[in-house]
Amino acid sequence: MGLFKKKLKQEHKVMLQAERAGGAMLPEYHRATPECPHPEHWSMYDSMTAEVEVLEFLATLVTTVKPNLIVETGAFLGASSIWMAQGLKRNGFGRIVSCEFDPQVFAKAQEKIAASGVAEWIDLRNVSSLEMEVNGTIDLLFSDSELTIREQEVRRFLPQIGPNGLVLMHDASSHPGMIREAALRLEAEGLLSVVLLPTPRGLAVAQKRAGRK
Ligand SMILES: C[S@@+](CC[C@H](N)C(=O)[O-])C[C@H]1O[C@@H](n2cnc3c(N)ncnc32)[C@H](O)[C@@H]1O
Repeated sequence: MGLFKKKLKQEHKVMLQAERAGGAMLPEYHRATPECPHPEHWSMYDSMTAEVEVLEFLATLVTTVKPNLIVETGAFLGASSIWMAQGLKRNGFGRIVSCEFDPQVFAKAQEKIAASGVAEWIDLRNVSSLEMEVNGTIDLLFSDSELTIREQEVRRFLPQIGPNGLVLMHDASSHPGMIREAALRLEAEGLLSVVLLPTPRGLAVAQKRAGRK
């Protein structure tokens, strides 16, 4: 039976683990990197959802810059959408358009968002970030979907990002270096100015160069 057991997709595996953990916080277990040698000083709910401190940072960023329109790619169970929506609720205006490609994960995220108390601030769609159409000027883009398409996503939404808009790319640590390299490539092309926050999984916080005064 073990031989024929269907291999669970990583997202589904982590979704089940998260369900079992029931919202308990664990020490972050991403491997140590030169820029973040003590990941255990951070906390996490699961390995897909952003670090708890990054969720807190996202909420604070939303209350700090007061965006009208946030676009998120990769909702997973909706935690980062919910934290950012809590910031919007405090601001009293704005909206998040987020997407989750996997239908099973999308259904679970919808449940969590419905129970969050901030559902009215979130427009969650079961669509790929590479196909999602969003109207309006984007003030904050949080790119957190499949690692291999994050650069494509940022390039896709860049023309729609306002001159004071922010671009956040999660998982920009030096291991795996793919997102870090993408962020630095976008910077080398003169498209973004990047700050690499040394969190366990890494967070690139960037500003669009075009139109910046
Ligand atoms: C790292 S998790 C997102 C975590 C979430 N932002 C949080 O911190 O709570 C990445 C999610 O992106 C989804 N995903 C992968 N490719 C996608 C795509 N092209 N469009 C939208 N979602 C995608 C995966 O199914 C997965 O649930």
